[in-house]
Amino acid sequence: MSWTPSRWRQRPAAQLPDYADASALAQVESRLASAPALVGIAEIGELRDRLAEAAGGHAFLLQGGDCAESFAEFGANKVRTVFNLLLQMAAMLSASGPGRVVTVARIAGQFAKPRSAATETADGVTLPSYRGDIINGAAFDPVSRAPDPERMLRAHRQSRVTLDLLQAYGAAAYADLARIRRSARERLGIAAERLAAEEEIGTPVRLFTSHEALLLHYEQALTRWDEESERWWATSGHMLWIGDRTRQIDGAHVDYASGVANPIGLKCGPSLTADNLLRLIERLDPGNIPGRLVLIGRFGARQAARHLPALMRATREAGSRALWTIDPMHGNTVTAGGFKTRFLGDIIAEMAAFFDIADSEGVHAGGVHLEMTGDDVTECLGGSLPLSEADLPRRYLTHCDPRLNETQALDLAAEVARMMRRRLQPESHAA
Ligand code: PEP
Ligand code: CO
Repeated sequence: MSWTPSRWRQRPAAQLPDYADASALAQVESRLASAPALVGIAEIGELRDRLAEAAGGHAFLLQGGDCAESFAEFGANKVRTVFNLLLQMAAMLSASGPGRVVTVARIAGQFAKPRSAATETADGVTLPSYRGDIINGAAFDPVSRAPDPERMLRAHRQSRVTLDLLQAYGAAAYADLARIRRSARERLGIAAERLAAEEEIGTPVRLFTSHEALLLHYEQALTRWDEESERWWATSGHMLWIGDRTRQIDGAHVDYASGVANPIGLKCGPSLTADNLLRLIERLDPGNIPGRLVLIGRFGARQAARHLPALMRATREAGSRALWTIDPMHGNTVTAGGFKTRFLGDIIAEMAAFFDIADSEGVHAGGVHLEMTGDDVTECLGGSLPLSEADLPRRYLTHCDPRLNETQALDLAAEVARMMRRRLQPESHAA
């Protein structure tokens, strides 16, 4: 049977909610199906072109944002702070790397979360797990935890507003680029001539959106046929990715992603074998089109050296033009003082391992995928204003995984910038 946006329904689907009211669900799906696209197909194509540049070794992908967006914490200020932070980081990386930086936020659709257990039990009561605001509520009571399709409409409205805000901030930032670049240069202590070279690249401020394509009811409803390209496109965001828990080769999520023309990310965790990776690449990118597939390694600082070399070698030997990037967050989650947290040192160590392994395997180290916020949270440990275990309760606000705060994100960007400069000019950093 040829691909259709609903074919995933015939495949085994992990991580999807059970909606009790089928007619309420169908009503929401049909409303979404008649809503205008959230992102335009020309913009998605533009992202694919830029990712193709990265796949060719001439650009670097900076992808980051909240683990999960929330309804309660939404506001223009929150969007603005993460936008500004990504811009700062992008300016630091583009002043240090071999080409331009493609900036893709985890935003305007990043609402659904995979969970390790379907239910949660407290005080003898068992309820469905919280799966993100697009599915159910976090409060531990039966009404909040019941999956509610109406939440898809709310997520969709919030995504529309977010996209409008991003566009407005993009226009404002264009006028402010010189200052942003100056401050990035100051942060890195880079000489002016390096900046001049970077300015010639003349990147307009363009922030693309991305999220995990987890809730396939929502994704299907927003899938649109384009006459000109004669392709199906996901219009819920520019780039979608497949999570580490939903990348089963014959599963629903891989099937859905295989049929849309957007750039697709694939999380590659420790359980992925080289054979399975090659099979997934064949399913998701049979035409081997640069900019189509982004591989996102996520192993943990101590595991990367065990798993990544074989995967990179396999893609290189197969001639795949997929872009290799690293998510140094999800393999580095630990518990400290009763909180889920991550050490900045581990995150940096996985970054460094990624660059080293890519170099020895002859693969372009093409990007980074981060969980971060512009807000002043205390969720990850370490950094130049060091946070320690005792600080965690102060502003631990995440609904899901621990995020880098602004200082930690800039610290990390400075480290990555250093790693990039060292590779460009190995001799001047040898001492
Ligand atoms: C995520 O990126 O938020 C996530 C759940 O990642 P992974 O699928 O790699 O665990
Ligand atoms: Co996460």
